[in-house]
Amino acid sequence: MADGKFIVIEGLDGSGKGTQITLLENKLREMGVSLHRTCEPTEHATGGLIRDALCGMTKRTPCELASLFLADRISHCSNPVSGIKKLIENGVTVICDRYYYSSFAYQGMDTDLKWVMDQNLNCPDILQPDLCIFLDVPPAECDARIEKGRAQREIYESGVETITRIRDKYVEVFSLLDGHNIAIINASRKPEEVAKDVLEAVKRIIR
Ligand code: TYD
Repeated sequence: MADGKFIVIEGLDGSGKGTQITLLENKLREMGVSLHRTCEPTEHATGGLIRDALCGMTKRTPCELASLFLADRISHCSNPVSGIKKLIENGVTVICDRYYYSSFAYQGMDTDLKWVMDQNLNCPDILQPDLCIFLDVPPAECDARIEKGRAQREIYESGVETITRIRDKYVEVFSLLDGHNIAIINASRKPEEVAKDVLEAVKRIIR
């Protein structure tokens, strides 16, 4: 049996990741691809600690947050039953909403980027994705979408200035990563137009 593929969808808060993942999921299922959809932070114990920090309930330093995301990712990859590695070995294609590129952009902005990258890229339990799709939307548009859709903002959703810094960090990180398959897609268009480009990028790795 051939291994499944590991696809990561990245983007700023309010970039439409959820919508695009659902559209991609539907298309791939129609094509008969065996799929698993997941996200980070996960729904497991460490993911819960992270969500408490994201909503401001618990105060965490940027280094603590980077370490929590790392621990959450290690168990996400290596859980012997439901981990990403196991699924892929079993021929299942995994679509993950955010992965270590988010740690590089978000925690890399507030701590030492090289330290965050080293921890994640050199960890033997953390898998390198076959494809990362970055849904690129101008920060002001993301800010307007967040404003419309949320009662309360999370710590990284505090205004255009912060969102712009995060986008800049993503761009810097992508330029530093050798050997990673990254597709940057203009996601400031109609969802169905974006979905077409997303599917094309995925078809390049799914034969
Ligand atoms: P969440 O509301 O769960 O999802 P989303 O905004 O993607 O729909 O928010 C996740 C937040 O966590 C988001 O602001 C990005 C942040 N994050 C990091 O800072 N580092 C990471 O490694 C990951 C995976 C997420």
